[in-house]
Amino acid sequence: MVDLDEQAIAILQKNDRGGFTIPTARLYPFQWNWDSAFIALGLATMDDDRAWRELEMLVEGQAHDGMIPSIIFRHDDDDYFPGPNVWQTNNGPLDGTGISQPPVLASVVAHFAKTQGETGLKRAKALYPQILQWHRWWHTYRTPEEAEVVCTVHPWETGRDNCPDWNIGLRNMATDPDSESYQRKDIEHADPAERPTQEEYDKYISIVKFGRDHGWNQHVLTNQGPFLMADPGIFFILLRADRDLLWLAEQFGFEESAREIESWITQAESAADSFWNEEYGAFCAWDVRTKEFSHGFSNASALCFYADVGTTQQREKTLAHMRRIAGRTQFGQSSWDPDAPSFESQHYWCGPLWCQMNYMIAKGLSEQGEGQLAEKMRHDLKQVIELSGFYECFDPISGAGCIGRDFSWTAALWLAWASPSLTQTSPA
Ligand code: GLC
Repeated sequence: MVDLDEQAIAILQKNDRGGFTIPTARLYPFQWNWDSAFIALGLATMDDDRAWRELEMLVEGQAHDGMIPSIIFRHDDDDYFPGPNVWQTNNGPLDGTGISQPPVLASVVAHFAKTQGETGLKRAKALYPQILQWHRWWHTYRTPEEAEVVCTVHPWETGRDNCPDWNIGLRNMATDPDSESYQRKDIEHADPAERPTQEEYDKYISIVKFGRDHGWNQHVLTNQGPFLMADPGIFFILLRADRDLLWLAEQFGFEESAREIESWITQAESAADSFWNEEYGAFCAWDVRTKEFSHGFSNASALCFYADVGTTQQREKTLAHMRRIAGRTQFGQSSWDPDAPSFESQHYWCGPLWCQMNYMIAKGLSEQGEGQLAEKMRHDLKQVIELSGFYECFDPISGAGCIGRDFSWTAALWLAWASPSLTQTSPA
């Protein structure tokens, strides 16, 4: 058997584009925001300097209003749609999309600062002002007037692109009749059955058109845009990242920004209950305008441990869902509920196991005294990679690899978390 550690290293090298790493060739040929944060964890197992470079190059794409885009376009690429000519953001030093992605960055930076001594702290301090600005962007531009909770304007911003959670918001919006015709590229590089439907895609592009037509004024996009939902994924990841950013502020003696971050944390702690769907017994996404809840357990529902929120009862109910789902699948936490009619085990965010979500869920579980379950998730990821290789995501029932091959975050989290050659058993 070819050594999987060597294969993972080779994938990261192959996807390196000179200081930043693309997720996989052709399907995703640019730097993606949260991908880079997870990729840095893997790079740091080999080369701390290169890991920091990954993060620094991500921050280079920060827009003037503080947003770090979901994709940084350093060039155009015929293999990808919608590229920079469609987004037309013109709002920062580099081309990027007009939306963001889950803010994992501060947590990875804090992790490096804790584990790499003085050099880690120094590099973290240099990035701190821009990360703070990005978090401020979430708490101002993405916190709508009508709800005191961070929200999202586009399913792509959540990183869980076609999860059935978003069907409520998509159903409530119309496709813009003036949208130009376009040609999708994703279905040329991946099996169309595993990708979002055409109707979903038309709506995704209509939201982009709205942002572009309004000059990427993020306040307008949030408060008047076609889609506005609250995502437990972004909410929990940001709360966790705010806690990690506060830790950094305290290390550096930045008292003023520490108070600002504390106020975000206090507000989020009291807003956590807005995600609790009592009828369903889980933290779920909800539509801000109609107040309608999603009814299904997604992998984002399981991130409450990572954010350290939830009453004892809420956590018990969450764990009960996770046990029920584990009884219906073989490997890890699936992206969608196998008991829901919309579950599809190989369809992107409608079922597959995603390594980065499982990593964060397990990290939260092990911190909150559920080490056994966390260890099972790590073991399951190891097994699917041994079975199928370094895919974008995996069928949680058969373990088959889905969509993109030679995928960077899977290789990185193998090196940082799942590989048996690691001496540690808890998440990085
Ligand atoms: C897909 C995923 C998203 C990821 C991107 C690049 O769009 O849904 O989460 O960041 O691919 O890997």
